[in-house]
Amino acid sequence: MKTKILQVLRQNQETYVSGQELCEKFGVSRTAVWKAIKQLKEAGYEIKAVQNRGYRLITVPDILSQSEIVSQLHTKWLGHNIRYFEVVDSTNAQAKRIAESTDRADWHGTVVVADTQTAGRGRRGRTWSSPCGTGLFFSILIKPEIEPGNASMLTLVKGMATVKGIAEVTGMQPQIKWPNDVVINGRKMVGILTEMSAQIDYVNHIVVGTGINVHQEEFPEEIAQTATSLKLELQRQGKEEQISRAQLLGAVLTHFERYYEIFLKTQDLSALMEEYNDMLVNCGRSVRVLDPLGEYEGTALGIDERGQLLVERDGEISKISSGEVSVRGVYGYV
Ligand code: BTN
Repeated sequence: MKTKILQVLRQNQETYVSGQELCEKFGVSRTAVWKAIKQLKEAGYEIKAVQNRGYRLITVPDILSQSEIVSQLHTKWLGHNIRYFEVVDSTNAQAKRIAESTDRADWHGTVVVADTQTAGRGRRGRTWSSPCGTGLFFSILIKPEIEPGNASMLTLVKGMATVKGIAEVTGMQPQIKWPNDVVINGRKMVGILTEMSAQIDYVNHIVVGTGINVHQEEFPEEIAQTATSLKLELQRQGKEEQISRAQLLGAVLTHFERYYEIFLKTQDLSALMEEYNDMLVNCGRSVRVLDPLGEYEGTALGIDERGQLLVERDGEISKISSGEVSVRGVYGYV
């Protein structure tokens, strides 16, 4: 009964279907219809019930699965090996295990995706909240032929790809908070963690992990004031659109593949920095540089070809590397 009712509601998503109509169509009682609707709601379907009009399907749950992900892939090589997990400790940790399990780098381009992480890792030893069914948690495993010192720029490349992917799928226009947080309306929506295994002059593997807040409606207390999700931001704009995490992943991977190939040609951001600076929320803004040797304020001008942030202070320009210091807005997080 549940499936049959769902089919009718799907076919009539623009309008309401009366309870009476459903009863007559399937020859069941009002209670039976009501029970089926209740079960659908429990499974995550959002169904609006209005007196004298009936039921209307508002949203279908965003189910992530291997086949759903593969059906949304449009890349040349990236992600042709998808490893999907309902639960994993951390997609970054899992990607690292894959790289270390064999000497042959046939894992290059593998993408590890999870519905939930039990030990999601953030930057600077922090954790990344990863409840099931809410976010998009994934890691790209690559073995680029670059000098280890150039690897940190890949994080900025990933930030750009994420902004592009989100814009394409949602129509919203997020920005980058240097070096790689993706923000919208002054709140963080995406975190990126790049981890590398290398020798002095040789990269063994690089894992670029991304967490996108998609369906979250609330956050742990410590980030409640600075975090947001795609759902919350769409709601703010009065939109009820449903976001498919698989579609979002497909879009981000397509853009990463393209930017990554551009980056590889010069092994720096010379061909990308103009576009990056257009996405940069900090550009022209006052920032506070959290330098362990002494904090100071200045105006962010944009990045150079190595991804360093140029900050002007008293007529002098300092170049800031992301590994050493972080910046935040003078009046808040951005
Ligand atoms: C940050 O602190 O801003 C970076 C957060 C990165 C989180 C993602 S979620 C997928 C991948 N797996 C992890 O354990 N971390 C990254």
